[in-house]
Amino acid sequence: MKKYGLVIALVVLTTMGCLKGQDDPVFPSPDLTIPVDESVTLQKAMPFPFGAAVNVGLLKNNTTYRNLVIKEYNSLTAENAMKFTQLHPSENVYTWADADYLVDFAQQNGKRVHGHTLIWYKNPPSWVLNYQGDAQAWDNLLKNHIQTVVSHFKGKVASWDVVNEAMADNGTLRDCIWLQKLGADYIAKSFIYAHQADPDALLFYNDFGHEYSTTKRTAIINMVNNLKQQGVPIDGIGLQMHTNYMQSDKNLADAINTAVATGLKVHIAELDISMNPNNIPDLTFSAGLAEQQKAKYEFIVKTYNAIPKNQQFGITTWNVSDADTWIRGEYNRPDWPLPFNDNYERKAAYQGILDGVK
Ligand code: XIL
Repeated sequence: MKKYGLVIALVVLTTMGCLKGQDDPVFPSPDLTIPVDESVTLQKAMPFPFGAAVNVGLLKNNTTYRNLVIKEYNSLTAENAMKFTQLHPSENVYTWADADYLVDFAQQNGKRVHGHTLIWYKNPPSWVLNYQGDAQAWDNLLKNHIQTVVSHFKGKVASWDVVNEAMADNGTLRDCIWLQKLGADYIAKSFIYAHQADPDALLFYNDFGHEYSTTKRTAIINMVNNLKQQGVPIDGIGLQMHTNYMQSDKNLADAINTAVATGLKVHIAELDISMNPNNIPDLTFSAGLAEQQKAKYEFIVKTYNAIPKNQQFGITTWNVSDADTWIRGEYNRPDWPLPFNDNYERKAAYQGILDGVK
């Protein structure tokens, strides 16, 4: 009997140990999630479109992710599926499957699609980098790509980031293949070609850094105003807003309000709030960090909610949850920048977004 007692005691203790292990504040910590009424969703609560950048692989293969996307958002951006290399990997080949899948999904579920992105310094495929031709041939290449893509999605994609990240931090145009081959006019031309292919699509210039560099911000705003004055068909300005919880409220508000002053529509197009901007390799997420993130999300949403309604294109987060954030891969660090945690549960940041429109 004594022996059995010992065995039972050991089993009980071991089991308790395991359970305790589960309750430990391991990453991701369940106690950082918040009990929000499940009938509340971002798309219902926000008075403007609220979207996310969506990964087509996850949409196809992860039911939790897919259902969350259906439930929470009414606007979708393809994280990668509509970029140049993905859609147009060699000169005479277009690969539509993933982008079409996303667009069909959006149509079936009544969601707006924002196209991202036609021309981006980072994404030309090698056939473009190796392309030989005179200025006219390069102009045709630009035009063909833009018009083939925009025509393919005509009537299904509401808006486009026509040119992405053309400005360098020092306020001059970023060196890239398009600038080298076509000069600064590649930007105006891109908008004109996109507009010809789908006059109903809203056309955006999209970039990052408005909140941390007045030099870059001013250069972007000047460029956009010049395009407008020249009659180039531009409807909006996208502020990526890959930001972090230490960014000052003033800088964030200045970024939004200087964009508003252009009179164009403003899209907070790639919002995420990094909690580890200093790349600390062993940082863990804590309740304290969660509260700071909540406050920052609330401030951004509140500031955006106060701009004129007809300029609110919407807010889009870059990715859905901390599990699928691009930041971890891009910067090789732990980070938790989104309103959903690794288990696709709502974080305090989610409540911050709701509080922003109270
Ligand atoms: C990122 C994607 O999230 C990554 O999966 C990819 O490897 C690189 O591009 N600014 C942009 C987006 O405009 O297109 C970028 O997306 C993130 C930064």
